[in-house]
Amino acid sequence: MQNKYTIRLETKSDYNNAENLTREAFWNVYRPGCLEHYVLHTFRSRPDFVPELDFVMEQNGKLIGHIMYVRSEICADDGRVIPIMTFGPISIAPECKRKGYGTILLRYSMNEARKLGVGALAITGNINFYGKSGFTVASTKGIHYYAEPREAEVPYFLICELKPGFLNGVSGVYKDPEGYFVDEKEAEDFDAKFPQKEKLKLSGQIF
Ligand SMILES: CC(C)(COP(=O)(O)OP(=O)(O)OC[C@H]1O[C@@H](n2cnc3c(N)ncnc32)[C@H](O)[C@@H]1OP(=O)(O)O)[C@@H](O)C(=O)NCCC(=O)NCCS
Repeated sequence: MQNKYTIRLETKSDYNNAENLTREAFWNVYRPGCLEHYVLHTFRSRPDFVPELDFVMEQNGKLIGHIMYVRSEICADDGRVIPIMTFGPISIAPECKRKGYGTILLRYSMNEARKLGVGALAITGNINFYGKSGFTVASTKGIHYYAEPREAEVPYFLICELKPGFLNGVSGVYKDPEGYFVDEKEAEDFDAKFPQKEKLKLSGQIF
């Protein structure tokens, strides 16, 4: 059950709070510490960042959620380059997780992306969360993740058409936009500007 919230575009005055929120949401989840707040920080000045789809979720004057989108593409087997988008980091404040806010923010942003004419979205993530909002395992639709063998079913690489039929007849390969591959040392230096937090090695982390 959610309390009252608003979703609006991020402004410059949100930058620090959104980065701190991202850090809090991702800290020790996928690795000891996290890189995602630095990914967000560096993406805003990249040409493939989509300012029209850079949203914060606010409650009682405090940010509780954030999502950003990036232009990306599928390199189709027939030689076409199919423009799509990916998104993330998507973050919900730790104290607000598993109350439905992430689903609301995701679906709101997907609808705004649809209004912009985006045909499909790709994401590496958990089907248990994204599957509820229309995402399916991409390899079952002929869209393959660059880092895995083509014949593999990659359960964490997901796709969702925003325009029905947009990917009909398309097979090909997707690679994450360059901006997601940040330098870990630079990320560490950036992290030093935030309040001290302990990095922990926990079970379930993937890096
Ligand atoms: C992932 C995240 C954005 C989801 O937002 P949320 O508000 O917590 O999720 P919701 O309450 O809308 O979840 C709806 C359903 O999705 C599924 N789900 C949500 N988070 C999940 C997770 N981490 N793992 C598996 N399933 C998840 C569950 O089925 C959940 O329903 P339930 O709580 O009744 O079991 C949020 O938990 C978060 O910020 N996590 C840390 C950062 C992160 O992992 N971001 C995504 C990277 S791809």
